Amino acid sequence: MTRTILVTSALPYANGSIHLGHLVEYIQTDIWARFQKMRGHECYYVCADDTHGTPIMLRAEKEGVTPEQLIERVRAEHMADFRDFLVEFDNYHSTHSEENRALACAIYQTLKARGLIETRTVEQFYDPVKQMFLPDRFIKGECPRCHARDQYGDCCEACGATYSPTELINPVSAVSGAVPERRETEHYFFKLSECEAFLREWTRSGALQQEAVNKLSEWFAQGLADWDITRDAPYFGFEIPDAPGKYFYVWLDAPVGYMASFENLCKRLGLDFGEYWRKGSTTELYHFIGKDILYFHALFWPAMLEYSGYRTPTAVFAHGFLTVNGEKMSKSRGTFITARSYLEHVGNPEYLRYYYAAKLNGTMEDIDLNLEDFVARVNADLIGKYVNIASRCVGFITRHFGGELRRESMPPFDGGQDIGEAYEARNYAKALRDIMAIADRINADIAAAEPWKLARDETKRDELHDICSRALHGFYVLSILLQPVLPATASRVARELFGMERNFVWDDLRELPAKINPYQHLMTRLDPRQIEAMVEANKQSLQTPQAHSEQRHAGHQQHVAQEEAQAAARDWESFIGIEDFSKVDLRIARILSAEHVEGAEKLLKLTLDIGEAKPRTVFAGIKSAYDPATLVGRLTVMVANLTPRKMKFGVSEGMVLAASDARGGPYLLSPDVGAQPGMQVK
Ligand code: MSP
Ligand code: ZN
Repeated sequence: MTRTILVTSALPYANGSIHLGHLVEYIQTDIWARFQKMRGHECYYVCADDTHGTPIMLRAEKEGVTPEQLIERVRAEHMADFRDFLVEFDNYHSTHSEENRALACAIYQTLKARGLIETRTVEQFYDPVKQMFLPDRFIKGECPRCHARDQYGDCCEACGATYSPTELINPVSAVSGAVPERRETEHYFFKLSECEAFLREWTRSGALQQEAVNKLSEWFAQGLADWDITRDAPYFGFEIPDAPGKYFYVWLDAPVGYMASFENLCKRLGLDFGEYWRKGSTTELYHFIGKDILYFHALFWPAMLEYSGYRTPTAVFAHGFLTVNGEKMSKSRGTFITARSYLEHVGNPEYLRYYYAAKLNGTMEDIDLNLEDFVARVNADLIGKYVNIASRCVGFITRHFGGELRRESMPPFDGGQDIGEAYEARNYAKALRDIMAIADRINADIAAAEPWKLARDETKRDELHDICSRALHGFYVLSILLQPVLPATASRVARELFGMERNFVWDDLRELPAKINPYQHLMTRLDPRQIEAMVEANKQSLQTPQAHSEQRHAGHQQHVAQEEAQAAARDWESFIGIEDFSKVDLRIARILSAEHVEGAEKLLKLTLDIGEAKPRTVFAGIKSAYDPATLVGRLTVMVANLTPRKMKFGVSEGMVLAASDARGGPYLLSPDVGAQPGMQVK
């Protein structure tokens, strides 16, 4: 029976790059969608960028572009990253789209008509300088419990206390540095508390993993709080109908983005959007998400759908978090690795797809990318077991048998049932174990028959034909079974080696290959030095702390709103020991010359005396703030032991230190009177 399936991954925020943590999810979903398509089901995989919210608005402002320009640029980057990781969406849309505006407003209006929206006056911190209400994560102050300084408005990273921003001692706005005032404002709330009976029942309907059901029971026990879905202007988002100056909180329109992306696809392909989303629809709807956003997908979202008259998800599949070498991804350790940086250093996306798949078992457990194990595993399994079969056997068939395989040696494969079930259950770890067990058997057969010896003996032609045909039939089967994980390689195997005019489908398992074309190189061993270089390149310099953290915290922060999560101005993980700091060679530098660089928007070319025989050349991004003539003769601080970087305009042999944030800058640092070029800064 052909099923009709709509699959989504969570919509990545438009204010950061895709990193290896994100890819756990997109690769997991992509494998599943590809598997469903191979089985002959009608399956669509849609996603979009999640574009609204305060952080995106502020970042655009800081970059001097409109939010629309920022999200367009980031969307293009995200799409390129996904494409290069072979994540094949049927549609990749944006939450800042007309489809999304119309759907979000309509859903809101239905909820309102049903009495599920309520107005309340709330008191919030207001930044009098920036003239805006401040999200919790944009307020900092002293923890009311342990008195640690510089803590965010929602929780203390020193003692773990959670509180409301109004409890902070000496609060300041992280946007302007001003002391925030308390102000009253009217907000709209979605009455989640009134959806409890429905949600309890939905929770029992089999749509959730057991671990998620347990989490929900905790939330039910705590009581469901009504949800504030409003943000005041200025805000980048959709204005609430009939409420000028009030906007939908980004998390209201974000999941609606799933529908909007699909509606956009329906228009393109002529599909019936209503049929997929109507109550009682027989189509299937699955959301793949990380465990940190379970609250939104297992409570708010099904309630919004149910009470606005739509169908609810067939299932929500939550996965765990990525750790690298057993620890949270860390910028200082160089394990906060962007998708692009992986591609630059490792190249082949299928290695990561394979490794993640080998670890994913359909539960909410965290998964670890152990970099040493990654190299060992990829080389042992993909090169040593899988590709090895073809590279050893194809040559004998093309040389001695004109590429013809020996039919009698290839009984049709009858198996794959369990492997199919494992894919379906998202237990890719099991699927790959079973697949590699087949590869092991084939390799053992090859080793026992020793075709390289048979080939030297004219009288052993039949035996040679037999073992190579059996092995290559096995290789054919393996390639079909691996196609969801290794789509590019499987496609080349189908087309180049087996001469097919299409990619594999699951039913090809029952077919037999007749011929094989000469062997083409399929995969290169992974060199551990590529990994070292990647980690090195991701070690973040002290000069450019990220303005937001992409770290994820489990536990009490599970339903911390996105603005809070993404706006973290400091990254807890980036604390370093003194040993790390002392690796940085900081020196006093005298600026000998400063000049504009032809064609560069932001850079000045500086020549710096740091007490060495030869002055250093540094390209510094300070053009917006300084007239070069005023810099000559000035002292500043330089990072002297950065690996020289080749830029478009020449080689940069270090960095100068400057301060900046939303309030302004860059401001070049200067030492006190008396400091001399070449002095160490420590
Ligand atoms: N924009 C929201 C989702 C809205 S869905 C209507 C969001 N975006 S995100 O960019 O922060 O994360 C996108 C997905 O990637 C989420 O499902 C999140 O759980 C997942 N991951 C982000 N970092 C991750 C790890 N380090 N490890 C595993 N998955 C992670 O949340
Ligand atoms: Zn504290």
